[in-house]
Amino acid sequence: MRVTDLIASKRDGLAAPAADLAEFVRGVTDGSVADYQASAWLMACFLNGLSDSETLALTTAMRDSGSVLSWDPDGPPVADKHSTGGVGDKISLALAPLAAVSGLRVPMVSGRSLGHTGGTLDKLESIPGLRVDLSLDELARQVDGIGVAMVGQTDDLAPADRRLYALRDATSTVPSVDPICASILSKKLAEGLDSLVLDVKVGSGAFMKTREEASCLGQLLVSVAGRLGCRASAVITRMSVPLGTMVGNALEVDESLEILRGGGPEDSRMLTLHLAARMLVGAGTCDMPTALRTCEENLRNGRAMSLFERMVESQGGDLSAFETREPARVRLDVAFDRSGLFCGLDAFAVGEAVRRLGGGRFRVEDRVDHSVGWELSASPGSYVSPGDPLGIVHAASGESAAEAAASLRSAVVWDSILEDLFLGEP
Ligand code: URA
Repeated sequence: MRVTDLIASKRDGLAAPAADLAEFVRGVTDGSVADYQASAWLMACFLNGLSDSETLALTTAMRDSGSVLSWDPDGPPVADKHSTGGVGDKISLALAPLAAVSGLRVPMVSGRSLGHTGGTLDKLESIPGLRVDLSLDELARQVDGIGVAMVGQTDDLAPADRRLYALRDATSTVPSVDPICASILSKKLAEGLDSLVLDVKVGSGAFMKTREEASCLGQLLVSVAGRLGCRASAVITRMSVPLGTMVGNALEVDESLEILRGGGPEDSRMLTLHLAARMLVGAGTCDMPTALRTCEENLRNGRAMSLFERMVESQGGDLSAFETREPARVRLDVAFDRSGLFCGLDAFAVGEAVRRLGGGRFRVEDRVDHSVGWELSASPGSYVSPGDPLGIVHAASGESAAEAAASLRSAVVWDSILEDLFLGEP
């Protein structure tokens, strides 16, 4: 197979045989396919899409481009959850130990912040000393020992995705359902999972902006995972407003600790319970009502929190240093400047504001500031007046705080009971 022929056939809207895609992925992995050729093929895929069999072949080849973990078949089921990314989405932090303490093995491989969305690894790294760069051997040992590990993608786990993802990012070809499916599943299936729960986000703060796009991605993910031997289920969840009250790395760890201690904002807590319970059901351990009861009990009795502490310690982190850390240099109270029915804040605008504060990245090599972020004080659904508290900006400087405050105030979504008014002539 010549790469130029593969590019030309996708340019002309034709489907490639599985063997050609496998050869292309091998070339991407060993560097024999040039960046400009891979980029041209990615753009052709973006414009013409992939057939179902191409998506299956691409996912398989990308999964097999590195190591694929295998587990003792006599141990508990091996399961994971993946979110397609959002703003304030800190669910994995409490969910991974909760699912593990409830009877699963959870080898969770997560990502960093991407665009306006946050990343689990950046949140975890706000805990001083915590290592997310475990080798695959260390990951396997920790999961065999305590049931859970939360780490980043290593060089030998789906390396083809690393290279293709960087090229998609640099060529504006990320938001396309088929390559997203291959990218997500190649990494997750390399974990050697028995089952997987997919949280497909929809709304302004998600990559999928409409319900149709989200269900198309959800169905594709479930079908491709199933054909590759992993029982998967997908839930579509709201990302038009941020999840919970905290957005920003350390602040989101604070909220996760609240959840692990049995509290936390109701939306974050409910989604954590629901997704953890779905993982138990997907793994075939029990039905949904039993799974929900087990997970609630494991938050209430502190077992999930204890396992989170063990995991942090095992990965070199110091939770007490985190809880007594220096806060961000500036805390700026932000108030409403008009009255009305407060609905929430637009998720994309909040994600962008926190990114500009230094909580996310504009370039891959940017360092994130773990301390900055946004803390919502107002309750969605309440009627507010000028001067009522909207929230608190945590920033590194007064200037960046003021800039964020202005963006956040204009990100408020107002609800209206009065949709329209028609006046008759006197
Ligand atoms: N997350 C991934 O891992 N890959 C994508 O393409 C999009 C979101």
